[in-house]
Amino acid sequence: MRLVKLLANLGYGTRKEIQTVIRNGWVTDRAGNALKPDARNDHDDILFDDEPLDPAQGMVLLLNKPVGYTCSTKDQGKLVYDLLPDRFRYRKPVLSTVGRLDRETSGALLFTDDGTLLHRIISPKAEVPKVYEAMLDRPLKGDEGVLFASGGMMLESDDKPLKPAELEVLGEKHARLTLHEGRYHQVRRMFAATGNHVNALARIRIGNLTLEGLEEGKWRLLDAGDLAKVFGE
Ligand code: URA
Repeated sequence: MRLVKLLANLGYGTRKEIQTVIRNGWVTDRAGNALKPDARNDHDDILFDDEPLDPAQGMVLLLNKPVGYTCSTKDQGKLVYDLLPDRFRYRKPVLSTVGRLDRETSGALLFTDDGTLLHRIISPKAEVPKVYEAMLDRPLKGDEGVLFASGGMMLESDDKPLKPAELEVLGEKHARLTLHEGRYHQVRRMFAATGNHVNALARIRIGNLTLEGLEEGKWRLLDAGDLAKVFGE
């Protein structure tokens, strides 16, 4: 791909802005030679202002989402994209969240620009387990686990029952729930159907990928090993 198009697709600016930057000699190869707008160097052999380029298409990243951020590119208020480099918002193909977390839910949120991968992760067929921890308003009654695991639980306004989900009781008002699908507000609606209310919710694991070492509000790129964990390795 021509250099101007490559940089525009990575969100480095409009084509016009990029032409100017290139003309100023700020885009070079690794040996320090200024590149021309129609250069077709390998991605890894291009430096922008002496820095390696952002990852090529096919990138996946994990964000430790804080409460209060919306999974959208253009809602009002704080957006999950505000926690990533600004350029990532302008990439083509688009960098999308892999599913969503509610504004008031924190924890593990994946992003990718690879549509096939995105569908592999969120497809109910893939059954990638997602693990949540919930702080509840009222004490658990004791029968929630059986109901959630039954495979017959119907949520209001849904037309098919939920897949079996596993509940682990961590305290009187504290539970861990593993889901194998991702419906709208699913965890909150499941507890609401039992007469309870979720006061705080966090996703702590996607497949076998955890947030270990990643502070709230921070993100990191995933490598092949991390992705294998998403799919259960
Ligand atoms: N279930 C919810 O209720 N909210 C989320 O953000 C994710 C799962």
